[in-house]
Amino acid sequence: MTGQLKLDNEPDIHEVSHDAETDIKTAQFPVVLDTAPRIFSPTETFSIAQDVLSDEDTPVRLERLIGHGGNGIVAAGRGTFTAGGRAYKDESVAVKVPYFHLTASDDPLLNMANMRRFSNEVHLSIQVKEDLRRVDPGLATHIVETFRDGFYGPVHGYARVPWLVFGVMELIEGKNLKSVTLSPVEVLGYAVSICNVLEVAHKYGICHRDIKPTNLMISDDGLLKIADFGLARRVEYFGPKKVALGSPGFAAPEQIDPDADVKIDTRVDIYSLGATLYYLFTGTIPYTKEDMGAFVFERRSLPTPTPLAARCPDIPERLSKVLEKSMCHDRTRRYQTINQFRDDLVAMIPQLGMAIGAKPSEYYLG
Ligand SMILES: Nc1ncnc2c1ncn2[C@@H]1O[C@H](COP(=O)(O)OP(=O)(O)OP(=O)(O)O)[C@@H](O)[C@H]1O
Ligand SMILES: [Mg+2]
Repeated sequence: MTGQLKLDNEPDIHEVSHDAETDIKTAQFPVVLDTAPRIFSPTETFSIAQDVLSDEDTPVRLERLIGHGGNGIVAAGRGTFTAGGRAYKDESVAVKVPYFHLTASDDPLLNMANMRRFSNEVHLSIQVKEDLRRVDPGLATHIVETFRDGFYGPVHGYARVPWLVFGVMELIEGKNLKSVTLSPVEVLGYAVSICNVLEVAHKYGICHRDIKPTNLMISDDGLLKIADFGLARRVEYFGPKKVALGSPGFAAPEQIDPDADVKIDTRVDIYSLGATLYYLFTGTIPYTKEDMGAFVFERRSLPTPTPLAARCPDIPERLSKVLEKSMCHDRTRRYQTINQFRDDLVAMIPQLGMAIGAKPSEYYLG
C-alpha cells in the first residue's frame, strides 16, 4: 500500500444516486475489472483493512473486529490525528470500513456512489455533533463522536481492492442495546434519554433516520451513546427519496416503501424509536421479515403488528397503546413530536414500576 489519495470531501448534502455519472467522470480513482465479482465477509474485510493500515505512516491501525452491519465492519484500533482542534496521539478509536464489494465492485458507478455516500455520512455525523455541542454540550455527549474519514490507495496485493475508505470514531467500550438484557423500567429510562437527545436534534432540523438497537450503545460507565447519525439529514434537504435508506424492521413506511413518495421528516424517528422499544420489550422486531422487500410487503398487508400487551402480559395495556401510536403507518396519526411521545412514556414509568414490583428509586435511570 502506498500513498494517500486526497479527495474533495466537502459535505454536500444530496442523495447519491442521481449524479453518480458526473462523479465518475471527474473521479481520479482507478477502476478494477480484473476478477469475478464476489462478496467480502466481515472477517475478510477486517483482515485486508488491518493489513493495509498496518504501515507506520497510516493514521489508524486496526486491532480487533467489534461487529458488522449491512454496509461494513466496525473495528477497534488506535489512531494519531487532529480533530476538532485536539491532537490525538495513539489513542483508542473505532474505525468503520465499508465492505469492499460496495466500494471496489466491477461497477464503477456503484463504487463511486457508495464512496460518496459513505464520505457524506461521515461528514454529516461530524456536523451533527458539532451543531448539538454548540446548542447543548451535555446532550451532545450522548452522540458518538465521528472524527474524520480517510482514503488510502492504491492498495497493492489485493486485486479487487484498489483503495480503502474508512471513517474514524470515538470508541465506545460497552454494549449496544441489542446485546443487553434490560428490565422494562430500564428500557423506559433509556427511551426517555433517547427522546431528550432527539428533541434537541429535531429542534435544529436534524433527523437521525436510523434509530435501532445496534445504533444505541451503553458505555461501560452507563452513558447512552447514539451512533450513526450519518443517515441523518437536515429536514430542509429532504426530497422525495431516490434510494431506500434505513433498516427494515425499524424504518417508517414513508422512509422505505417505494410507493410512499413523500418528503420524510422527524416523524420517522418517532416510528423507529417505537419499533426499537417494541424490540427491547419483546426481543423481536414488530414484523417478522428482515429482508427489505419482504418486510415492506408484510407491513403493507398488516396495518398493525401484534400488540405489545399480547406479547408481554406484564406490560400495561396503556404502554402497548403508546407504542402502537408511535408506530402508526399513517404519520399524521403518530405522535407528531418526540416530546409528546416522551411525555407519554414518562407517565408510564411509575405504573410499569408498580406492575413489575420495582422500587420508586429504580424508575428513573436518565
Ligand atoms: N463507535 C463505536 N464504538 C464501539 N462499537 C461501535 C461503534 N460504532 C458501532 N459500533 C458497533 O459495531 C457494530 C456494527 O455497527 P454498524 O453501524 O456497522 O452496523 P449496524 O448498526 O448493526 O447496522 P447497519 O450499519 O447495517 O445499519 C454494532 O454492534 C455497533 O453497536
Ligand atoms: Mg450502526
